[in-house]
Amino acid sequence: MPPLDLDAALARVASRRGVLGERLVYLVETPSTNDAAATLAARGAAEGTVVLAEAQTQGRGRLGRTWHSPAGAGLYLSVVFRPAAGGPGGGAAADVARLMTLMAGVAVADGIRRVTGLPVDIKWPNDLVVGRPPRKLAGLLAEASTVSGRIEFVILGIGLNLAPAAYPPDIADRATSLESELGRGVDAVAVLAETLAALGEGYADLKQGRAREMLDRWRALAPFAQGSAVEWESPRGLVRGTTEGIDEEGALVVRVGNRRERVIAGEVHWH
Ligand code: BTN
Repeated sequence: MPPLDLDAALARVASRRGVLGERLVYLVETPSTNDAAATLAARGAAEGTVVLAEAQTQGRGRLGRTWHSPAGAGLYLSVVFRPAAGGPGGGAAADVARLMTLMAGVAVADGIRRVTGLPVDIKWPNDLVVGRPPRKLAGLLAEASTVSGRIEFVILGIGLNLAPAAYPPDIADRATSLESELGRGVDAVAVLAETLAALGEGYADLKQGRAREMLDRWRALAPFAQGSAVEWESPRGLVRGTTEGIDEEGALVVRVGNRRERVIAGEVHWH
C-alpha cells in the first residue's frame, strides 16, 4: 500500500504533473525500480507510469555502481517516458531524451527547494548536492530503450536520501540526506509530489521546444559547472581542465590548455 496521503498530494499538483503518476505502482521491495519500470514499459505501460519502492535489493547508479536502498531511508522511484509517442518525430524525441537527465536535475532540485527550502545544487551530469565541499543528496539514472535507432521509452530513476541510513557509513563524508541537512524529519510525500510536478512541467517544456529555458535554469542551479578544476581518463590518458559550462546539447564544456573539449559521458573527477 502506498502512503495514504500520496493520493491527496498527487491530486494537489494534478494540473502541473500532467500524466506523471496517473498510474502508480507501489512495491514494498524490488531489485531495482528502473528494471521494474522497464519491464512494465516493454509490456506497454503508459507514459507517466511511476514505480515507487519502499526498498531496493539491487539499486543501481551510473557507471555500474550500487545505489544503497534500505527500507524507508530514501525515495526510490522510476518514471516511464515515451518522448517519441504522439508528439515530435524521431530527431526531436532524441533531443528530448538527451536532455532528460539535465531536465530531471532541475526538477528534483526545484521539488526539494520548494518543499524544504534547502539550497540544493546540481553537479553535472546527474548528482544533486548540498554544501561546500558538495555532499551528494540524490542521483538520477536515465536509461533509454531503442528499437532500430528509434527511442521506445526512457526510464528515469531517482534516488533521494531521506535519512543517513540511506548510504553506507564509509561514504558519510561525501553523502548527505534531507534529515541530516535540515535537522528534522521531512514530508517525503510532499517532496515526491512536488518533484513529479516539476518533472511534468520540465518534460512539457522539452517536448514543446523550450529547452533553452530549462538549460538556463540548470546553469543557475549548477555553480560547479563554471570554473571548477576537473580531470578524466581519456583514450589519450588523464586530461585536466577547467569547466566552462554546458552547451545546448547538455555536454560539459572544459577548457584544456588553449582548446575546449566537450565531455558527454563517463566519469569526471571534480576538485
Ligand atoms: C547515480 O547517482 O549514480 C544514480 C542513482 C540512481 C538511483 C535510483 S533509485 C531508483 C532507481 N532505481 C535504480 O536502480 N536506480 C535508480
